[in-house]
Amino acid sequence: RSAALAQIEGLIRDVPDFPKPGIIFKDITPLLGDAKGFALAIDLMAADLGHLKPEYIVGTESRGFIFGAALAYELGAGFIPVRKPGKLPAAVHSCEYDLEYGTDAVEVHRDALQHGARTLIVDDLLATGGTARATGELLRRLGADLLGYAFLIELAFLNGRQQMADAPVQSLIIIE
Ligand code: PRP
Ligand code: MG
Repeated sequence: RSAALAQIEGLIRDVPDFPKPGIIFKDITPLLGDAKGFALAIDLMAADLGHLKPEYIVGTESRGFIFGAALAYELGAGFIPVRKPGKLPAAVHSCEYDLEYGTDAVEVHRDALQHGARTLIVDDLLATGGTARATGELLRRLGADLLGYAFLIELAFLNGRQQMADAPVQSLIIIE
């Protein structure tokens, strides 16, 4: 497992000063483009999460779609997209979250899942936790049974995990 994790980490590229000076961007595109590396990442996440027996995977636009959809397929779950404002066509719940400057929002269809459905939130990255917390709030409004939050990468030094007191957080790669 540690060799597999090292292989995956080796396919995540640090891009300094993106999107602005002082930020080191974790670029997952080399991992996505590597057939073996991408499969390994999905297989390891699925192995860590399968015991939760989710009926639905919720992925947050846009990078959460990539990992969420692959995991939904592998775990035999449905996939629910949580989208940026104005993208979903039917009636939605909406939840705002803070950015460094201003706010953004995420939306989900009001009829996306049944009350009590076993649901897991998946995204590529846990940074400040704002995106995941807002996604969790949407699931609470739907009455879902939130089993946990799963990430490929967690930037632990940003303490985003503290925002998710309502369910367990699992990350494949934790950067201290
Ligand atoms: C990135 C990343 C996570 C979020 C993590 O998404 O994919 O969704 O930021 O940051 P947070 O924990 O501080 O909320 P971004 O909003 O850049 O959009 P994208 O997925 O469409 O690239
Ligand atoms: Mg994202």
